[in-house]
Amino acid sequence: MSSSDSTPGTLPRHVAIIMDGNGRWAKNRKLPRPFGHREGVKALRRVVQHGIDRGLDAMTLFAFSSENWRRPALEVKLLMELFSVVLRSEMKRLMDNNARLRFVGDRTPFSPRLREAMIQAEETTGRNTGMTVVIAANYGGRWDIANAARELAVEVAAGRLQPEDIDAGLIQRHISLADLPEPDLFIRTGGEERISNFLLWQMAYTEFYFTDCLWPDFDEAALDAAFDSFGRRQRRFGRTGDQVEQRGA
Ligand code: IPE
Ligand code: IPE
Ligand code: MG
Repeated sequence: MSSSDSTPGTLPRHVAIIMDGNGRWAKNRKLPRPFGHREGVKALRRVVQHGIDRGLDAMTLFAFSSENWRRPALEVKLLMELFSVVLRSEMKRLMDNNARLRFVGDRTPFSPRLREAMIQAEETTGRNTGMTVVIAANYGGRWDIANAARELAVEVAAGRLQPEDIDAGLIQRHISLADLPEPDLFIRTGGEERISNFLLWQMAYTEFYFTDCLWPDFDEAALDAAFDSFGRRQRRFGRTGDQVEQRGA
């Protein structure tokens, strides 16, 4: 796998974020949970814009996990509606910023209208050359790995691939986001310190950053604080600290 080392002070190229804490943000204000999700959209806008302004290559944002269907039906419905509305309202901003929008996750349970809007958004922004914004919607890391395994099994069954040729590099080419740099930095807001089935394969060497800040409160300064933390880390990728220092010198 290709992972580029980062020297102290460098910015991540690809940031993956679990935007967590919307419900608690609303609860703290004695508001229904949907208010937190709506406020969370504002944070999403701020953070994407700041990522663009800081010159990131890509941002992947976890909007809805494959497990979030377990939530009350009304909340799921509202999240789907919000997804559609935001998709429409953000297109101009993305185009103005030369940003590319992509989705990752299993789209089959989404309404045909939403799926169409997703394809349209990807096509409309597809030729932009700025930052790639990836929205993980009905995404699960295990789903992603299972997909790659199934694609390879099809190749083996067709006689185009030998089982002994399957290695990490080949799986990597079948996993989602393979065309982007691997996430350098993972941020989870909301205080929980877990992956919740996000990018399991892709985050093998990602730097983790957890903050108690609830997602609707997350802003440019909070993102910069995460970048600062990233910039102070020494990424060793299995080597010794001395080796990494020599390579960087
Ligand atoms: C994250 O906030 C948004 C989604 C999962 C869609 P939550 O809704 O999980 O907020 P908390 O964790 O309940 O506070
Ligand atoms: C993870 O948050 C998914 C998203 C932010 C979209 P959850 O709030 O669903 O995660 P758990 O259930 O606390 O692990
Ligand atoms: Mg949560």
